[in-house]
Amino acid sequence: MNDSTVAVIVVAAGSGTRLGHSEPKAFVPLGDDTILGVALDAVLGMRDAPHVVVVAPADRLGEARSMVAARAAAASATFDVVAGGESRQESVSRGLGALPHVVETVLVHDAARPLTPSAVFDEVAAAVVARGHGVVPALAVVDTIKRVDAAGRVLGTVDRSELAAMQTPQGFPRSALEHAYARAHGEHTDDAALVESIGMPIDVVPGDARAFKITVPADLHRAEHLVAERHGADAAARAAHAAAPVAASAAVPRIGTGIDVHAFDADADTPLWLAGLHWPDERGLSGHSDGDAVAHAICDALLAAAGLGDIGGMFGTADPRFSGAHGEVFLAETVRRLADAGFRVGNVSVQVVGNRPKLAPRRAEAEALLTRIVGAPVSVAATTTDRLGFTGRGEGVAAIATALIVTG
Ligand code: CTP
Ligand code: MG
Repeated sequence: MNDSTVAVIVVAAGSGTRLGHSEPKAFVPLGDDTILGVALDAVLGMRDAPHVVVVAPADRLGEARSMVAARAAAASATFDVVAGGESRQESVSRGLGALPHVVETVLVHDAARPLTPSAVFDEVAAAVVARGHGVVPALAVVDTIKRVDAAGRVLGTVDRSELAAMQTPQGFPRSALEHAYARAHGEHTDDAALVESIGMPIDVVPGDARAFKITVPADLHRAEHLVAERHGADAAARAAHAAAPVAASAAVPRIGTGIDVHAFDADADTPLWLAGLHWPDERGLSGHSDGDAVAHAICDALLAAAGLGDIGGMFGTADPRFSGAHGEVFLAETVRRLADAGFRVGNVSVQVVGNRPKLAPRRAEAEALLTRIVGAPVSVAATTTDRLGFTGRGEGVAAIATALIVTG
């Protein structure tokens, strides 16, 4: 069991009136699971298992408990289940009351946003720790926003350049969130609003389209579709690898190459992260981030294919947000930038050059993880250099990636 200083409060005590299902929203089926189950998988997919507090309807505590117990055990996470209140704010407040003493950073997450990627939780938690204040994921507003009166008459157009749509998980230093809740007057629409009201700064970090909230039936359909797609991803990956020809109607694909090299760290305690995986008992790589040469080479290949520059230009080494960040954070952000620029990934191939770690035993695991993050097939190969050069002498690891992307 862990002694995590990070807790995630998952609020799941709402009734889901607008969804109109016979079950409370968190218990509505999603794929072969429930909305809450899928949400918990995302929370427990965090790099470092957090303490989890599930806030559930008072008459569903047992069910919620068994849902979280199995998953938490698999992730070596500690958890608690408490009954919610009349409003979301009251539910969060009850969740706060259940936090263990050691917790210093609290993320509050809507179970109704089950497809939020684990990387968003990691990023928010890391940013709260680094900055010492509130951090919320947000998306730019893409629609034109107008003020409209009760009679339906347009009053004016709002400048959307200053607007952003807030998502969860919203993260805070525990003391700030507790202070804000202790002083709360009236209902606020999100946790950040409460913390703003005590004068604490809140920063936004990039949200994720998949973190949308299931509110009405159409949202549930969208989530069902995404879950089905996720389950089909393995089959799709195999199909894509079987050299499926690019459809004649598709635009000409674009390719890019990326190379990255990191030296082994002099400090024997530095952990090794490579291909998105942690390699216990292997010497770690040095770098401003976690030194994951495989993830970085893939980012460069993707950015090159899209003509978006390179990883150094996108995530400056001076930027404290990326100090110690895992490859997954860079990859997810790179894929998001490509999507913004109108590209999606066809496939990626990456080769690791070095003596250690021995990749073969965990190759499938690395491919599955990277494929999930990139959202397209990623194949991973490895080679040594016959004892020649810096890789042959065991001074570091190199990775060479090729990416193919298409428009759309
Ligand atoms: N929530 C909660 N306790 C409440 C109300 C809401 O824990 N008393 C949680 C919901 O379970 C959900 C999140 O807050 O995960 C966001 O709320 P919302 O989407 O409004 O969910 P519901 O309140 O369940 O839906 P509705 O407003 O349509 O009834
Ligand atoms: Mg509600």
